[in-house]
Amino acid sequence: MPNLLSRGLFNLFFGSKRRALASLPGPVPGILGNAGDFLGDAKPWDVCARYGREYGGVTLVWLGPKPALVLNDPTLIEQVLDSRRMEFEKGSLHEQLKPTTTEHSIFIAKLNGDWATKRRQDPFVQSWSPRWLAEQVAPMQAVISESINALIASGETVDLSPVIRRLTFDAFAVAGTGEKTPDSVYEDFMLLAKGADARLKSNLPLSFVSLPKGFEAARERFYRFFEERLSALRKSPKPGATDLMSWMLREMPDFDDAWLARHVALMFYGGVFSSSTSLVGAFHQLRKHPDAEARLVTEATTFAGGPPTLERLNDARWVEAATLEALRLLPAVRVFIRTPVKDVQFAGVTLPAGTTLMISNQHLHRDPTHWPNPDSFEPKRWLDGGAARDPIGSGHFFPFGRGPRMCVATDFAMVFLRTAVATIAARARVQLESTEPFKEDFFFGVVLPSGVRARFVAPHAP
Ligand code: HEM
Repeated sequence: MPNLLSRGLFNLFFGSKRRALASLPGPVPGILGNAGDFLGDAKPWDVCARYGREYGGVTLVWLGPKPALVLNDPTLIEQVLDSRRMEFEKGSLHEQLKPTTTEHSIFIAKLNGDWATKRRQDPFVQSWSPRWLAEQVAPMQAVISESINALIASGETVDLSPVIRRLTFDAFAVAGTGEKTPDSVYEDFMLLAKGADARLKSNLPLSFVSLPKGFEAARERFYRFFEERLSALRKSPKPGATDLMSWMLREMPDFDDAWLARHVALMFYGGVFSSSTSLVGAFHQLRKHPDAEARLVTEATTFAGGPPTLERLNDARWVEAATLEALRLLPAVRVFIRTPVKDVQFAGVTLPAGTTLMISNQHLHRDPTHWPNPDSFEPKRWLDGGAARDPIGSGHFFPFGRGPRMCVATDFAMVFLRTAVATIAARARVQLESTEPFKEDFFFGVVLPSGVRARFVAPHAP
């Protein structure tokens, strides 16, 4: 709690603003508002979850002189992300991410601008997309197996986050273009992501944030790589090729090559960080819960023993349950930002245009009034109708967001995650150095597990 002088100064300068929002609960602001809560080691999602426990579904905080709301109430969250979504945009995300992701990205498109057109055109939601997706289990299983075999052969203890991130990148490359990329493409991808990360984290105006050395050249190379791959495929199409680029070339004749290539390139920014974080969380939890891990290994081994089809993957119910449980307990994207485009009536007050709304899923994913044993990793809660009771995108389970702007690649992400969970569990034991909770950093808007070290060991090794 700020001291009396600090509280008094805040009221002296900003009392009238505060009175207009007085009906909303929240911590008492000092001269810097409540910004101090978000400084230091505190993670924004932990702060948002604490507010949920202490103040309920809506919390008023002051970021300096500016009000912000933290939402932990499913009804209010539904309004912002779904029924009243046109009144809200994604804050300054567009400016922060633009140098890295290009204007083609729907992630940064404005709802009141060309978002709807872009979403309709997105390759993940076309009538043929489910057929493309069904074809990805086998090639992704093959490339993940190759990575796991190399990790077993090396025998080294590795930092899990970068290793799983690279495995994810390679699997996406195969799903997107039919083959892995050279290492240099991954390196360029990471440099561009660092540029975006610096802009996302900065408290300064963006003109003061410099991009990493070599950013422009890396950007040119990264997007050119996909354009060249696309024009090679256009010149010599591979009959029966199952990758996204080949599907797009066949099925989207009205789009030019730059558009098609950019959309394949953007899938890496869409999902490599969030997907790999989810996998690290899943294997960390599985090691802590040997019964759940043993059941997974049995099912995964059966899956690995037959043809890698989507039908058979869908039959692997424990693989799905363990994946959903990891997404519940350790969602990779934990805070979504929105701002009203003009003054709006919301939560019983008039919110000024530009007010930051922080929507967090962490508190609701662990709400004890909704989930039995909420802090415990229990995949079985998703069986026997559990997945239908709390579908993806519902009030207490929204790892991919909610409403029409929910992750456009949810189905692909779930197929990738389930393929990876099944393949890794069948091929190796992920022997962690420690099952103590890991430190969570933040990178590219996504939680980044830090210092999780592990060795990949063949299942029957002594
Ligand atoms: C575990 C994996 C993933 C998680 C947890 C995740 C999470 C999310 C979330 C929470 C949102 C909504 C953000 C908001 O409303 O502010 C979102 C949007 C989006 N995601 Fe994902 N995502 C994942 C994988 C992917 C993948 C693999 C791709 C691309 C291949 C992707 C592409 C996108 C795009 C383009 C949007 C923006 C949709 C729009 O604005 O209409 N995501 N994702």
